[in-house]
Amino acid sequence: MWGGRFAAGPASVMREINASIPFDQRLWKQDIAGSKAHVAMLGAQGIVSVEDAATITQGLDTIAAEYEADGVPVDLDLEDIHMVTESRLAQLIGPTAGRLHTARSRNDQVATDFRLWVRDAIDEVEAGLIGLQRALLTRAGELADSVMPGFTHLQSAQPVTLGHHLMAYYEMIRRDRSRFADARARLNECPLGAAALAGTGFPIDRHATAAALGFAKPTDNSLDSVSDRDFALDYLMAATQLSLHLSRLAEEFIIWASQPFGFVKLPDAYSTGSSIMPQKRNPDAAELVRGHSGRIMGCMTALCVTMKGLPLAYSKDMQDDKPPVFEAHDLLGLSIAAMTGMIDTVTFRTDRMRGLAESGFATATDLADWLVREGNIPFREAHHITGRAVAAAEEAGVPLPDLPLATLQAIDARIDARIFGVLTVDASVASRQSHGGTAPDQVRARIAQALIELDLAELEKRG
Ligand code: ARG
Repeated sequence: MWGGRFAAGPASVMREINASIPFDQRLWKQDIAGSKAHVAMLGAQGIVSVEDAATITQGLDTIAAEYEADGVPVDLDLEDIHMVTESRLAQLIGPTAGRLHTARSRNDQVATDFRLWVRDAIDEVEAGLIGLQRALLTRAGELADSVMPGFTHLQSAQPVTLGHHLMAYYEMIRRDRSRFADARARLNECPLGAAALAGTGFPIDRHATAAALGFAKPTDNSLDSVSDRDFALDYLMAATQLSLHLSRLAEEFIIWASQPFGFVKLPDAYSTGSSIMPQKRNPDAAELVRGHSGRIMGCMTALCVTMKGLPLAYSKDMQDDKPPVFEAHDLLGLSIAAMTGMIDTVTFRTDRMRGLAESGFATATDLADWLVREGNIPFREAHHITGRAVAAAEEAGVPLPDLPLATLQAIDARIDARIFGVLTVDASVASRQSHGGTAPDQVRARIAQALIELDLAELEKRG
């Protein structure tokens, strides 16, 4: 394609290091769409004849059908998806194929293709995340009253409901979706027509190609157009943050599935056995979700480092933008699907959770709060009195609600029998009615609102 001024062909290692077709074949649909939009515009503007534009378009449709049926042929000599397609076009329609690349460069072509690909990738992630959120809402609704120990420092802190705990992840994923939506909106400007770096002298219509490809507008600086990969970084950064959330949830499942916790039984479908220890049931899917987050973060780092020292405009380093994005996207897709499957099917051992919530003096704060409320005692003093009650319960080897009233009154005479109304875990969670608190009513209200949010998001998508 560029052999005009070269006397010798490339060394075989050059052929190998130069070629991106082994991976950029994944851009073929976007490449065909970009070329069709470009040639339609060239025809409409009189830059190529209407007949040539039609011939080229037909040729591109034939190639798309071939790729669909047989895959993209990988020929390292042809370097990349753009040249593989153009050379096939020349085989099909002859020298007219050479008119397609008028007023275009592979630099604006690849920037356009890759934006289109990342845009589709974001839409896929968005659909997956809505599925994950629906799974969380379903389980959270079932478990809105189910009491478990809430932790800080991984020490029993106060009772919470399992529904509330699951809804914490709903909120994380909600923010992730908003990051992907931001990325999509910023991405949606069309670089096609920036040509190699400086724009073109041909009377092209960039607004027409931008509209044909579903972009909001053409980009405004040709140098930036061909050298910008922010859209890929935005995707990878949003993917990284999402993967951190998935990893934290995976980590909880791994801890919860351990024998000392025994909070969950992970489904067979997402566990493996051991070849030597027959009793084992390993949380492999969750561990791999946790592991994949490291690789996704690595992809993000890789592209940051590739881009950080590049002068304007295009440099071949930028060909290395695609493998980390493709890898991260594939890993993310698997992680979202595995997490959704686990949420859907995991068995929560709610009795075990409740038992532990009741055994750890988790309602001590409720005792202190009661002293403040009913005895008008300053919180610090109430905290001290409660500390003595906890010590007494510990010494007697009983949970707080089982301490005799006489024992409590010996610690502080202002305590009366009403105290037993606040010391149970159910009373504790029910009292946490502050906005965003763990009270089952609050959790159910948030779930109802969240269901409306998701329905609206899906309606909007359908237009
Ligand atoms: N395969 C190249 C890439 O992915 C296409 C752009 C090539 N441009 C160039 N001037 N060599 O970046």
